Amino acid sequence: MSAVDSLTQPTSVETHREGAFGHAIGLACRECGHEIALGPHYACPECFGPLEIAYDFPAITREQIEAGPANIWRYKALLPVPADIEQSPNMEPGYTRLLKANNLGAALGIDNLWVKDDSTNPTNSFKDRVVACALSAATEFHSKVFACPSTGNLANAVAAAGARAGIKTVVFIPANLEQPKQVNSAIYTDSLVAVNGNYDDVNRLASEIAGEEDGWAFVNVNVRPFYAEGSKTLGYEIAEQLGWRLPDQIVIPVASGSQLTKVHKAFQELIKLGLVEDKPYRVFGAQATGCSPVSVAYKAGVDAIRPVKPDTIAKSLAIGNPADGIYVLDICRETGGAVEDITDDEVRAGIVLLARTEGIFTETAGGTTVGVLKKLVETGQLDTTLDTVVINTGHGLKTLDAVSDRVGAAAVIEPSYAAFVATGIA
Ligand SMILES: Cc1ncc(COP(=O)(O)O)c(C=O)c1O
Ligand SMILES: [Zn+2]
Repeated sequence: MSAVDSLTQPTSVETHREGAFGHAIGLACRECGHEIALGPHYACPECFGPLEIAYDFPAITREQIEAGPANIWRYKALLPVPADIEQSPNMEPGYTRLLKANNLGAALGIDNLWVKDDSTNPTNSFKDRVVACALSAATEFHSKVFACPSTGNLANAVAAAGARAGIKTVVFIPANLEQPKQVNSAIYTDSLVAVNGNYDDVNRLASEIAGEEDGWAFVNVNVRPFYAEGSKTLGYEIAEQLGWRLPDQIVIPVASGSQLTKVHKAFQELIKLGLVEDKPYRVFGAQATGCSPVSVAYKAGVDAIRPVKPDTIAKSLAIGNPADGIYVLDICRETGGAVEDITDDEVRAGIVLLARTEGIFTETAGGTTVGVLKKLVETGQLDTTLDTVVINTGHGLKTLDAVSDRVGAAAVIEPSYAAFVATGIA
């Protein structure tokens, strides 16, 4: 069987436990609608388009959700996971805080601004959400290895979740990745593989291994449809934490584009299920100029995305050939949002701005998102009178080097009052 065949052949569901995937009923092609049975596949056998989970949702109430645990499993009825998902060892990510960011709002001139702070997840990024859903699928597929190509945060999340679940993990990263992100993987796994190349090279290698090796679940390759659903929980939480209503505007970082498309999908599902009122909202994508293929296509007014070679300090967003880029374009255009990009200096300034206004230390991805938020205001693309949410997807302790020069050195003094006064700080 060729590598492509092995990724697209339908498998039978017989070997799976009844209800193993909750209310999911199959995999549907995003391009042509062709459906196949649930299995470790991501590409349509008819047109090679991306596969997405299709559901037959039951009626569900706000009260049922609110009675659930303070993690993503409160939304388990809307995810491809079994009803007893809480019983399997997992990282219990999610239900992170949604902070009203009045200081950042004032600094930027936005009337009502919230930060969804996903840096407080177990491995300090939103990736714990997607990995928890991928792990559930990998378990049901009896995978023997839990793996990923990663720009850093995903590797951390896979390695930790695999350790807790007792499944072998192998994580692949670009060799030039920030040291803290490497250590944050190596602490959980013996099998950290640093590849001489950029993320797109690492991703190609992972697809090849997935085709050659039996029983490997690459979370964002052959179990990608299951993995991607985890990002919907960000959208569900934001709506629930706003008091079961959608924001008017939301700013989301874009690497592969998966997260942005899934937050939109979550909002649409909540509307269809009658859990929130149907109303317009605008979705904005954030990229760093050194890796901005989606922003470039958006600004050029074209539908095709031309892959780029990344060159930016926002390494977690450095995907030059984004799998879901075209869907990001569609969503941002259809909702009246935009895709914008900023320089590395603006990324650093974004990190410092969020820290000094809200006491949140974000990584370069968050610096990108906050910096883009600022640029959207300055360029008149964002309506400052509308309720706006910005997502912080990762933690600044993983990208210290990005800002260590910027925040200045400590004032080193002798232990005397006179020496302190001499600093001029008082
Ligand atoms: C911190 C952080 N934010 C955002 C993203 C973007 O995710 P996506 O690939 O879903 O666009 C990533 C991806 O690696 C990330 O690590
Ligand atoms: Zn298709």
